[in-house]
Amino acid sequence: MRVAGNKLRHISDFYFSELADLYEKPEIEAIVATAFYSVLGFSRSDIQLKKEENVNQSDLLKLYDYAKALKTGQPLQYVLGETEFYHLKFKVNKSVLIPRPETEELVDMILKENKNAASFLDLGTGSGCIPVTIKKNIPQAEVFAYDISEAALATARKNAELNQVFVRYFIGDILDPDFFKTIDQDFEVMVSNPPYIKKEEAMEMTTQVKDHEPHLALFVNGGDAIIFYRKIIDISLFKLKSGGSLYFELNPLTSIEVKRYAEKTNSFSSVELIKDMSGNTRFLKAIKKTV
Ligand SMILES: C[S@@+](CC[C@H](N)C(=O)[O-])C[C@H]1O[C@@H](n2cnc3c(N)ncnc32)[C@H](O)[C@@H]1O
Repeated sequence: MRVAGNKLRHISDFYFSELADLYEKPEIEAIVATAFYSVLGFSRSDIQLKKEENVNQSDLLKLYDYAKALKTGQPLQYVLGETEFYHLKFKVNKSVLIPRPETEELVDMILKENKNAASFLDLGTGSGCIPVTIKKNIPQAEVFAYDISEAALATARKNAELNQVFVRYFIGDILDPDFFKTIDQDFEVMVSNPPYIKKEEAMEMTTQVKDHEPHLALFVNGGDAIIFYRKIIDISLFKLKSGGSLYFELNPLTSIEVKRYAEKTNSFSSVELIKDMSGNTRFLKAIKKTV
């Protein structure tokens, strides 16, 4: 199908017809609002008020290309090349997971509970949404972040630059038994949102996620769904300061297993599971014993 004309309403109609097979009406409305805001700077109410206004050729082409890319099932954030996280702008592409609202909740909790902390470590940083937001809000802190993917780290570095903060990024493999030896300091706060989906669970995922987001960010190899959590808990035994806090974003299905593993180390004075806004057990917070 072609765009029937160059008025705003023609483009909006084009999005509805192109995306009808992929999305429900409210989702298309949200996509139109975000795409129009990104290209034209128009709010939702502008879209209603300016329906009959003409869009210039270059913006029309951009919006047309976005609709065609969206029709292939690509998530909107990849099509636009950016997203918002905790009121900050982040570049995203196929090498990084699109930051999720649950991760914003995690960051919000960390920021509220650790205003005076001096050092943070994020493992499996992806777009860098966690360390960049922490550094932006707690500028005096030293913030370190690791990922196994050079491409993800390149994006995370751009996001630190974009948001004008200094984050110390490193390449590293959390699953390597000697990984912790490469980290040359201890931290007051450790955080991770690691991969936690077993390959056999992929069938239950939407194609938008499964076919477009990086498998390195989503899936664990083999049958152990909590391998990353166990490794990071082990790392925290060496690298989390006494009295320091460890935070995880969790798969609700394996949250109890992760909690039990943390408790079994006997190294934490408290291990707590926390629900997200939808009522799912989504986060873990563990406080290291003071010695
Ligand atoms: C679920 S994503 C989380 C990304 C980001 N922290 C967020 O919350 O949006 C997990 C990240 O872990 C990284 N990763 C996967 N395996 C890893 C490993 N063995 N060592 C270090 N990082 C790894 C992936 O590249 C990905 O960026």
